[in-house]
Amino acid sequence: MRHNRPGLQQYFSASTRTPIQDLDGIITPNGLFYERHHAGIPAIDPAQHRLLVHGLVERPLLFTLAELRRFPSVSRIHFLECSGNPGFNVHGETAAIANGLVSCAEWTGVPLATVLQAAGLRDGAAWVVAEGADGAAMNRSVPLATCLDDALLVYSQNGERLRPEQGYPLRLLLPGYEGNMSIKWLRRLHVVREPAQSREETSKYTDLMPDGTARQFTFVMEAKSIITAPSGGQRLAQRGFHEITGIAWSGRGKVARVEVSVDDGHSWQEAALQEPVLTRALTRFRLPWRWDGESTVIPSRATDETGYVQPTLEALLAARGSQSGYHNNAITPWRILASGEVRHARL
Ligand code: CO
Repeated sequence: MRHNRPGLQQYFSASTRTPIQDLDGIITPNGLFYERHHAGIPAIDPAQHRLLVHGLVERPLLFTLAELRRFPSVSRIHFLECSGNPGFNVHGETAAIANGLVSCAEWTGVPLATVLQAAGLRDGAAWVVAEGADGAAMNRSVPLATCLDDALLVYSQNGERLRPEQGYPLRLLLPGYEGNMSIKWLRRLHVVREPAQSREETSKYTDLMPDGTARQFTFVMEAKSIITAPSGGQRLAQRGFHEITGIAWSGRGKVARVEVSVDDGHSWQEAALQEPVLTRALTRFRLPWRWDGESTVIPSRATDETGYVQPTLEALLAARGSQSGYHNNAITPWRILASGEVRHARL
């Protein structure tokens, strides 16, 4: 769903959202995967595309795609979420508007560690600056430890080649980190001692606090859940049985538990989690419910395997204020009206 924001110059800087209220399971079809780009979608000839690995390495290397595909490959299922999903003053009319900048896919590529080991790391190597071949030359600095852990150089998504809007022919994937760091149209990996302090990590993807300072390098997307049905814009046609279902995820690992309240947070019930529960992947939850026809509010809250519990919006605002547009993982409460209509409880 294209979501045109007045502040963004369409179509050079744009985003499209996943209609999460209309999807089942945990895998997002490629045609419905959310998008965000800063300078349009480049048209890249894969035969001409190269990946340069240089800086604090023993051997600077320049790869064609065919050469990258010679490395042993892996496929893993992970979510990807925009750090601005949603802003702090956005109470979406639908689940897509409230939280549709999140998707999940099976990604295939080469562990970044394999390629860095081929280049050989030199003393002092501590960060890797990843750069895209788009018009914005989008770049982010990534801690070396992350690059050597679960980072992937990806060329396929859900079994087919990446689509142009997802970084064809090559992208970085940093599981659990804010989406903008998974650089698309990847052309360069610069191994360095210190982060680049680029535009994207000084002015753009920092979190302004109430005292005027800013949180910087806030990489991890914290645990979140959202009920996708029933959700805003939908309508319960009759009282009686309804399945409450939704998605949960955490950038720190697996979802341990999702609780759902059908009485505006006075009491909570544990939802069933769809197996297998995968690390840093969307997790589907379900709770059977009998609607009595009365108006009520249904929030959900996720707890991840580290014990972190998804906060209320009030708790998040008390801790960080509302100046930042990023890292809002607050609980989304849906209000069921007696008519059966569903609305965001804050609207
Ligand atoms: Co951040």
